Amino acid sequence: MATTSFFPTRIYASALQARNDQGLRRQLLAECHQLREDDAAGRRWSATGYPGGYTSYGSANRMHVMSPTFARLEQRLSRHIKAYARALELDLTVRVLSMTDCWVNIMPPGVTHSLHLHPLSTISGTYYVQVPRGSAGLKFEDPRLSQMMAAPPRRLDAAAENRPWVTLPATPGHILLFESWLRHEVPTNTTRSERISISFNYSWF
Ligand code: NI
Repeated sequence: MATTSFFPTRIYASALQARNDQGLRRQLLAECHQLREDDAAGRRWSATGYPGGYTSYGSANRMHVMSPTFARLEQRLSRHIKAYARALELDLTVRVLSMTDCWVNIMPPGVTHSLHLHPLSTISGTYYVQVPRGSAGLKFEDPRLSQMMAAPPRRLDAAAENRPWVTLPATPGHILLFESWLRHEVPTNTTRSERISISFNYSWF
């Protein structure tokens, strides 16, 4: 084939740790539950900003500074952020990437987090703490979609890299990293249990 791919959109998916991370994950789960109990401001913020669910995005959004357990998560994310930045071939010789925000998301049955971006950030991602069996993953949208008004639709059996949307699985103990300008959404939780994740932003100052 005489065709080459340029301008790729890269998404990073990996287990947080090569070996079992049950200990850290269990501790994070307990702290997520505790935070929802303690964080009245966050519950108020969520009532309008995250209907039906709880997020500490508007209140406790620097958990990596507030909690030693979340600081351990940040520590373990570091090698993944480096690997992803290497894959993107970002030139970080003058400035470095550091975690600016880290917050908790609890999504009960029936709750959706619609399409959005993470403005004012470079790399964003999520660590999955508790994902009920049968949960949808994280859905990403082709960033060029708005420029395709007159383009023919893609075949139903098109390869993943040619589709306008792709959904990557959300696996407990795993992370997804993406560039912050990439639109994504968490489809409705159709299971009977809560889906719990920790999201974060890294910025290039
Ligand atoms: Ni997001």
